[in-house]
Amino acid sequence: MSLSFTDRVAIVTGAGGGLGRAHALALAARGAKVLVNDLGGSRDGVGGSTSAAQAVVDEIIAAGGQALANSASVTDFDAVQAMVAQAVEAWGRVDILVNNAGILRDKSFAKMAIDDFRLVMDVHVMGAVHCTKAVWPIMNERKYGRIVMTTSSSGLYGNFGQSNYGAAKMALVGLMQTLSIEGAKNDIRVNCLAPTAATRMTEDLMPPAVLAALKPEAVVPAMLLLASEHAPNRTIACAGAGTFEAAHITLTPGLHLGLTDDTPERLAAAWAQVSDRDGEIVPASGAAQGSNEVGKALAAAG
Ligand code: NAI
Repeated sequence: MSLSFTDRVAIVTGAGGGLGRAHALALAARGAKVLVNDLGGSRDGVGGSTSAAQAVVDEIIAAGGQALANSASVTDFDAVQAMVAQAVEAWGRVDILVNNAGILRDKSFAKMAIDDFRLVMDVHVMGAVHCTKAVWPIMNERKYGRIVMTTSSSGLYGNFGQSNYGAAKMALVGLMQTLSIEGAKNDIRVNCLAPTAATRMTEDLMPPAVLAALKPEAVVPAMLLLASEHAPNRTIACAGAGTFEAAHITLTPGLHLGLTDDTPERLAAAWAQVSDRDGEIVPASGAAQGSNEVGKALAAAG
């Protein structure tokens, strides 16, 4: 199976450096026309410049590919709509959106300013919402689309000092869960990518030997799969240092306890059984929880 992107049109946000740059270069090398977006600000989201995106566009063109630069902030819906119009005007459509732009404002929750929480949510969550909303009608009309949301192990599993970032990254999993269901009828496949890579975002979080193993390019194969015709739908792909994993949101079979005055005490006593993972499922939609609960209640009733 070859993953070709010939004549596909892709938008990669935050592609002026780090993972986004590696994603944009790889898509272009495999034949995609790539709109390289980057605000060009600092790691914590301050400032902006067109040079970051343009440098990656220059690299792609020098290698014989096709690319356009855009310096919109993903937080600005009007600018994002203009960015999508820029791609459509040049190349007629958008097939692939990689929501990759992001910032950090790390602090323990006790010390974190509300504005730092809000800004991180705005860039990661509303940034991805804006870009996805702007390409959604195009993908629906063409009955084809591949959208990659960049989540994080910090959201999936937690990380000290990253309550804002973790909340934002997990919100993208929720966004993916529903959009993958809504998009399926028009072959719009939406997935999450949880990368681990040595970039300016992680350079002071990991020791040098670990950073050396974590080239951004080693994450790229997972992005290429999720952006390809052969993409799965509604998955959380994890990637780093050439290792690939999948994360799942699961539901245990649980236990029907009914409703009596001492249900709280019986629940406390039975918690190990309630949370036992034997027989757990990965629900196909939120309805699975309710039907498991009602099914067990009806079975208990008679
Ligand atoms: P990075 O800081 O090198 O790249 C992020 C890019 O997004 C920067 O070039 C920045 O200018 C751009 N950006 C920031 N705010 C923007 C905005 N409002 N509009 C447009 N562009 C904006 O960091 P890295 O590591 O390459 O991160 C890429 C993505 O991967 C981010 O979403 C990050 O949260 C995520 N991630 C990275 C991990 C890692 O190990 N490096 C781990 C888990 C997730």
